[in-house]
Amino acid sequence: MKSRFLFMMIALVALAGFSVGEGQDPADREAGMKAPLPWEIAAREGFRNLGARSCSSTTCHGSVRPDSTNDDRMRLDEYLVWLEEDPHRRAYATLSGERSESIFRNLGLSPDDEQYRQVMQKCIACHGMPVDSSSTDSNDQQLVYEGVSCETCHGPAEKWRNTHYRTDFVGMTVAEKASQGLFNTNDAHQRARLCVACHVGDEGREVNHDWIAAGHPALKFELTAYLSMMPGHWKETRDRKNAHNPAEHELELWLAGQQVAADASLAQLARRASAAAAGNAGAVWPEFADVDCYSCHHDLGHDLGSPLSWRQKRGFGVEEQHTQIQRITLPASEWYLFMPSRLAASSKDAVADEFERKWQELRAKMAAEVIPDDQEIAGLADSTRQLLNNWFSRRSSTADRQQMIDMIGRSDDPKLVSNWDRAVQVYLALQVISGDRGKDKALKQIRAMLAFPVSAERQFDSPRKFRSVIEDVPKLILEFQEQLKGKQEN
Ligand code: HEC
Ligand code: HEC
Ligand code: HEC
Ligand code: HEC
Repeated sequence: MKSRFLFMMIALVALAGFSVGEGQDPADREAGMKAPLPWEIAAREGFRNLGARSCSSTTCHGSVRPDSTNDDRMRLDEYLVWLEEDPHRRAYATLSGERSESIFRNLGLSPDDEQYRQVMQKCIACHGMPVDSSSTDSNDQQLVYEGVSCETCHGPAEKWRNTHYRTDFVGMTVAEKASQGLFNTNDAHQRARLCVACHVGDEGREVNHDWIAAGHPALKFELTAYLSMMPGHWKETRDRKNAHNPAEHELELWLAGQQVAADASLAQLARRASAAAAGNAGAVWPEFADVDCYSCHHDLGHDLGSPLSWRQKRGFGVEEQHTQIQRITLPASEWYLFMPSRLAASSKDAVADEFERKWQELRAKMAAEVIPDDQEIAGLADSTRQLLNNWFSRRSSTADRQQMIDMIGRSDDPKLVSNWDRAVQVYLALQVISGDRGKDKALKQIRAMLAFPVSAERQFDSPRKFRSVIEDVPKLILEFQEQLKGKQEN
């Protein structure tokens, strides 16, 4: 294994040499965390959105078939892929569909209410092209109906539409292109922040438990999984080649996604806690969407002959308990923080240690009281977030596959999959490490075990059979790791 690993390192260093200047530098990574998002550019600079049809000419992005001549060329049928297959295209129409009607009904809102209109504006923040809601420009209003459209992700095209294919434009630096309004979707951190704004939430966008209980899907985002679910209107080969680190492109995307999503979820927790601390009207605390869903939604049944359910036996507090807990606890959701926390635990970085300690302190404080102190949680969430970003910005310039495998750790560690959120994150990370998305037999088996029972009327049921998964998944993970090791030794 060693020699193979050494070989990989050498290959990585060599590849890194080719892409100097394009964000290998931690400073560029930090810039990616701050670059304005497409609609922020539009608002700040006053650049206008032109609409998807302005991209759709058959000689531009409206070709009927994808280009097959050259891996380095774009597909050129991007418009049709989006129009016909991409769920983002439907995002606005969804708001008048049956499921949305039922969400509004469950919330007790009818289209005649003033409150309905206000809530609808909040839905549009994620489901429509973000435009200035005070704009009276009929073109802007028209664009909202496009849903999540080309310029929502690539930036307002007013300044670059007629120039971006010319050689002088293509030759510009990323910063020069950005100054014209073209958003850099190629940068892992910028891409992650784009998706996360709607798929996790930000200052102007959120999905709370009321909406989830009324029928909105719970937002459980992971960048690489969602990118692979999006009907790709780009070529993987070209995307990889343009990446900062082509050899470990998916791993870089995974890492950026973990950082950015954890950052956004901590920011969301801090915002909700601060709003409650400030006594804002309508503030909800604790917001159930920030809490481990299964602390409330779980099976109450227990084995014959045992007075305790499987969850009680395992302990359902912050850490696995060996004494019985009789008290309700509402621990913080781990979906976005479990993997960063595992990475920190296996890293030798002092800031990573501090981050991990702060996050555990936050979890313990959240779980200590059913209604934890909002001010204190806001402070802890802010400092956890800062430490997370400090640590990630110090990361070495290339992703380390071996560190990932170590991080997933000894699979007999019962903590690894002791709840569904953790198990799914481990599964998604294994997919990235293995590099053969969806094809591996052991991974397919794990996936089948983790899949939720589907029924028509309940969209987010408890994984009731998780008990057996807790026993079987570690075995399969172990098997899978052996396979990975075998591959590396060859
Ligand atoms: C402006 C908000 C917004 C942005 C930015 C955004 N999305 Fe979405 N996304 C949505 C909405 C809203 C839906 C639901 C669409 C529907 O079905 O009505 C969605 C749906 C999806 C789906 C389908 C999910 C499913 O369950 O089938 C995938 C996959 C997806 N988005 C991936 C991404 C990725 C990857 C990015 C970043 C490159 C991204 N999205 C950026 C708002 C956004
Ligand atoms: C924070 C951004 C955000 C807000 C605000 C938001 N949504 Fe969504 N919505 C999404 C995303 C992202 C998805 C896709 C979720 C997934 O599959 O992971 C989605 C999915 C949906 C779906 C399911 C679509 C399908 O075909 O499966 C419906 C229905 C929906 N939203 C309606 C609404 C309504 C109604 C509102 C306002 C009450 C609303 N949304 C507010 C982001 C948002
Ligand atoms: C939900 C976000 C999203 C939407 C909507 C979207 N794109 Fe993209 N697009 C991406 C991402 C992510 C990539 C891959 C990264 C890259 O190549 O820069 C990409 C890649 C591309 C590329 C290839 C760029 C290259 O250098 O290889 C083109 C061209 C493109 N998109 C055009 C369009 C057009 C035209 C539309 C509308 C019809 C559209 N996109 C809608 C996110 C989006
Ligand atoms: C503090 C306890 C608590 C937490 C944590 C919690 N929920 Fe709930 N949830 C409830 C209660 C109570 C209801 C019933 C609300 C009602 O009927 O008005 C409910 C209702 C629901 C429903 C509708 C139930 C149905 O049968 O259709 C869904 C779906 C749901 N929650 C999903 C989630 C998800 C996803 C999470 C995690 C992000 C979560 N809940 C976290 C207590 C909780």
